[in-house]
Amino acid sequence: MKKLFVTLLPLLIVAIVLYVIFKPNPMDKSMTYNSNEKSGDCLILVNKSNTLPNDYIPKNLIMPNVKFASCASNEEKMMQGEAAKALEELFKSASKEKINLYGLSAYRSYETQKQVYDKRVKTVGKKQADKYVAQPGASEHQTGLAIDVTNGDGAKDKLKVDFGQTKEGKWLKSNAQNLGFIMRYPMEKENITGYSYESWHIRYVGADVAKKIYNKHMVLEEYLKNK
Ligand code: DAL
Ligand code: ZN
Repeated sequence: MKKLFVTLLPLLIVAIVLYVIFKPNPMDKSMTYNSNEKSGDCLILVNKSNTLPNDYIPKNLIMPNVKFASCASNEEKMMQGEAAKALEELFKSASKEKINLYGLSAYRSYETQKQVYDKRVKTVGKKQADKYVAQPGASEHQTGLAIDVTNGDGAKDKLKVDFGQTKEGKWLKSNAQNLGFIMRYPMEKENITGYSYESWHIRYVGADVAKKIYNKHMVLEEYLKNK
């Protein structure tokens, strides 16, 4: 018995030391994340009631090899790896049909989103701003899984207007799901998503889920609730 104890003691000590070093820290900011999905998951839900901490930064941001409008900052050209690769495929598939898409704004840090939101509030007032722009922490742009897309290169605000009516906007709405993207803020779902129709904002969820959401005319909130 004594011999067994002497043999096991070093193992026990190593186990205790490892536990002390690697035990989860209850003050770790990532644990304050409020969504029902884990970070890094392409089904992460971020909206007005599921917010991200201000220091949430996706781990695997890369710059997709696609055309961007010249007003896009380097930060806004980043996306999570899997989404970035899917975006490249989406734009490639579009260009085969002579559809010319440009990235406009993908990843936005908490700070950048705060600047975008504050600027919009100053310009149009809080009530109007809240229909289209998420408050910092409530934007899925902060996940690196969403991107605003447009059909030309020009002044940032002009690019978005009536994009849904253009041939590029129509193509995106009918084809994005095949490469894993959903139209995140469709018409007549404002009461669920919390935002007005945005023909330019697509969100990566993976092809299986995107096709289900597309075929059933759902939004991400409805899909996650029913799955
Ligand atoms: N336009 C979307 C809601 C955002 O700002 O994240
Ligand atoms: Zn957007």
